[in-house]
Amino acid sequence: MKVGIIGSGGREHALCYAVKKSKKVNKIYCFPGNAGTHNIAENVDLDISDFEALNEFINKKNIDIIIVGPEKPLVDGIVDFLKKNKIKVFGPNQTASKLEGSKIFTKNLCKEFDIPTANFGVFNNVDESIDFLNKSKFPLVVKADGLAAGKGVYICENKNDGENAVKEIFDGKFGKTSELLIEEFLTGEEMSFFIISDGVNIKQFGTAQDHKRVGEGDVGLNTGGMGAYSPSRLENDKLNKKILDKIILPTLKGLRENYKTNFLGFLYAGLMIKEGEPYLIEYNVRMGDPECQTILPRLETNLIDIIEATIDQKLDKINLSWSNEKSLSIVQCSKGYPGPYENNQEIKNLDKINLKMNEYIFHAGTKIDNSKIFSNGGRVLNFVGKSNSFKESREIIFSLINKIDWRKGFYRKDIGHKVIDI
Ligand code: AMP
Ligand code: GLY
Repeated sequence: MKVGIIGSGGREHALCYAVKKSKKVNKIYCFPGNAGTHNIAENVDLDISDFEALNEFINKKNIDIIIVGPEKPLVDGIVDFLKKNKIKVFGPNQTASKLEGSKIFTKNLCKEFDIPTANFGVFNNVDESIDFLNKSKFPLVVKADGLAAGKGVYICENKNDGENAVKEIFDGKFGKTSELLIEEFLTGEEMSFFIISDGVNIKQFGTAQDHKRVGEGDVGLNTGGMGAYSPSRLENDKLNKKILDKIILPTLKGLRENYKTNFLGFLYAGLMIKEGEPYLIEYNVRMGDPECQTILPRLETNLIDIIEATIDQKLDKINLSWSNEKSLSIVQCSKGYPGPYENNQEIKNLDKINLKMNEYIFHAGTKIDNSKIFSNGGRVLNFVGKSNSFKESREIIFSLINKIDWRKGFYRKDIGHKVIDI
């Protein structure tokens, strides 16, 4: 079988790695991939927003299944396009992808289907937004509606922060917009909850906790994610059931009833858990990054079998088996990230590392040139360790990071601090 994976991050390297484990799979193409996927797949240097070109390549090479990693092509309708062209594709269609593509779409669905979430208002101009802020208590959260690469959320401590957020959003910092959201600030502990759905059946696909802030102690600017651990310390059967009954199932019902669509793919609920009750913060219509790199090493069932069953709407026929081990990931980034940073810095000694069982290195922003590996992005490498304790998993990672020679990189040493007693 030939499999194509769309994307170039750590998530896609981990997907490639998991798919590669199947004897069924004899060729993987990665669009466009990175220096890590280069070792196990053929990287195809193709603009992934050019759906026609993708379709042509997929047909020319007779690729059997396409897996879409990132949100942008999903929100832009890649699944609808490829399906129309009779290609088997794993991921939600454009309507279902609005769960991530428009925060206002999701909030309205929450309101109509009684899904617990922060109270909110939708505003369509600067004056009305600021009027509302003048009457409000802080902290409050101001959000751009559309995709913003994790940057469209402002936690506002006072009126000034709020005004600044409103102006930046309406000035078009995240693209032209006619609306924004102002939300109540939720307190509690966050948890990422994943399911996989074939449109009819759903199965849980693990939990995780990521660390979004750049600095140790969870301070500083927001990033795409500096590390994660799985499972979340909050996970238990009672909470899982509440999340499914109060959040996931009503959402899927809402999609069916209001939009006549099913959800096929990974659905990632970003939740706040307060006194044992889940509240939806946001949806993503894909696996998380770095949560995917952290969760997949715990999956014992072959990923491609799961994906095939999902596409064929037979997810109920497959049993998902998970290891009980504790998995932790640390992301090594270019110095300066999430602000400006230098690319093209050579990373030495990576190829000299012999990974043991339970040790993984997934590339993100890397490229290969003349057999040498160079940085090519903000988040560059993901180190993952799996063991019987989060502490040991983190020790495994530290020893891996110490083996490489890359002075322009940095990473957080406190990933998992809530689950590791020093
Ligand atoms: P999002 O991109 O919507 O996941 O938001 C990014 C981060 O902002 C979340 O992971 C939370 O830490 C925080 N956040 C977003 N909305 C809220 C809220 N209503 N209350 C508290 N924190 C929030
Ligand atoms: N780690 C957060 C995300 O994938 O959106």
